[in-house]
Amino acid sequence: MGILTAEMQRMVAGLRLCYVATVTPDGKPNLSPKGSLKVLDDDHLAFADIMSPATMRNLRHNPHVEVNLVDPFLRRGYRFKGRCDVHLEGEVFDRVANELWEREGRQYPVNAVVRIAVEQALPVRSPAYVFNKGVKEEDVRRIWLERYGVKPLDK
Ligand SMILES: Cc1cc2nc3c(=O)[nH]c(=O)nc-3n(C[C@H](O)[C@H](O)[C@H](O)COP(=O)(O)O)c2cc1C
Repeated sequence: MGILTAEMQRMVAGLRLCYVATVTPDGKPNLSPKGSLKVLDDDHLAFADIMSPATMRNLRHNPHVEVNLVDPFLRRGYRFKGRCDVHLEGEVFDRVANELWEREGRQYPVNAVVRIAVEQALPVRSPAYVFNKGVKEEDVRRIWLERYGVKPLDK
């Protein structure tokens, strides 16, 4: 079994949004959103470089990334730390680019595909869970759906 559990993989596929942190050549943080994050297998994630010049420049200097994703209603998610390699063509490139183009149409260029070998995968939870002992996930979800003004489908 790999590092990415079934639940982690489900959340990556379902959320379709994450934040990718890289480090600039002079050691500063760089955080940028990616909607194309995808699970490749139990140990690897990937995203498409469509318009991420600073992320790509940073990866040429330092291949380490941290990826954060959080479900805004469940108030929990994951942080993945790993090491990247960049694919300009080939099987990994085709898999990620073709799926993106099938879903979104050909309007987006894919300059490269970044594959992340995940070395550490940690859950991240809101204080809502930690300081409300025994609170149920469904209650947190209901409260935050209401706060965002989203009506549950069954009402
Ligand atoms: C919701 C959202 C999803 C995005 N998804 C991607 C993506 O999958 N790939 C990409 O290259 N840029 C994506 N972008 C655009 C980059 O985040 C944006 O161009 C950013 O400024 C690039 O910063 P960087 O050069 O520091 O990576 C997305 C932006 C948003 C707001």
